[in-house]
Amino acid sequence: MRKKQFALFLICIMLAVFVCGCAPKSEESTEYIGIVSAMDNEIAILLKEAKIDRVDTIADVEYHVGSLHGQPVVIARAGIGKIRAASGITAMLMKYPISEVIFTGIAGGVADETQVLDEVIATRLVEHDYGILSNNGFEWRSGDPGSGDEEGIYYDCDPELVKLAYDAAVEVVGEDHVFKGTIATGDQFVANSEFVEKLRRDHDAYACEMEGAASAVVCIKYETPFVVIRALSDKADGKAHDSYGNFGDIAADHSSSIVIKMLDHLKN
Ligand code: ADE
Repeated sequence: MRKKQFALFLICIMLAVFVCGCAPKSEESTEYIGIVSAMDNEIAILLKEAKIDRVDTIADVEYHVGSLHGQPVVIARAGIGKIRAASGITAMLMKYPISEVIFTGIAGGVADETQVLDEVIATRLVEHDYGILSNNGFEWRSGDPGSGDEEGIYYDCDPELVKLAYDAAVEVVGEDHVFKGTIATGDQFVANSEFVEKLRRDHDAYACEMEGAASAVVCIKYETPFVVIRALSDKADGKAHDSYGNFGDIAADHSSSIVIKMLDHLKN
């Protein structure tokens, strides 16, 4: 009797193993590439070209789950600024198996040699507005207070993704229009030449925007490779608002085209 029960037990186990092996993998066992932006126009082309299977809404952010040029993707517009970027990416990394995060969008140009519609691929990011404001002025100090990182830190992007993004950008807009370097993040739309000079002097920044470093902090905490791709809509100076209005959509599309090119190369 015992032998019979044991044989039955063994058969059940073998059946279970067989059924699991043949069953299609559940969707959540697929690894997705996470693509995140701040604004709708920064993912417009991507959503148009993607095959979206479903849209999940978490905390007001829509996560478009599907495929783009043959790659499994989750695409989300997280919102403007550091808090929204951090919240949106955290939710994405908690909900889906994400192999890497690509942040795409626009920025203000900071380095002298950059022009509107050039591309900047971040090699590292910095929170330029994190620090101490005393009677002596603003002192930059990033990193968690008390963690030992208070001296000010830069967050490195994944070198392989940087190379992939750089090569893709060269293909899309040409080598003369692509730069690699530090991107400075803060919760301000910068339209002030003096401040641009400070970002250049203090951080050797190539561009400024409002989400990159926040995305970096979250991705580093979750041990997920990431890169930030930004096309310049303006030069963050007194003409920034007009320039942003005139070139924002075109710049957003350029960065999206670079993401698509990256996906094509990731396939090979
Ligand atoms: N995004 C696009 N232009 C910007 C600017 N000048 N400052 C901050 N974020 C931006």
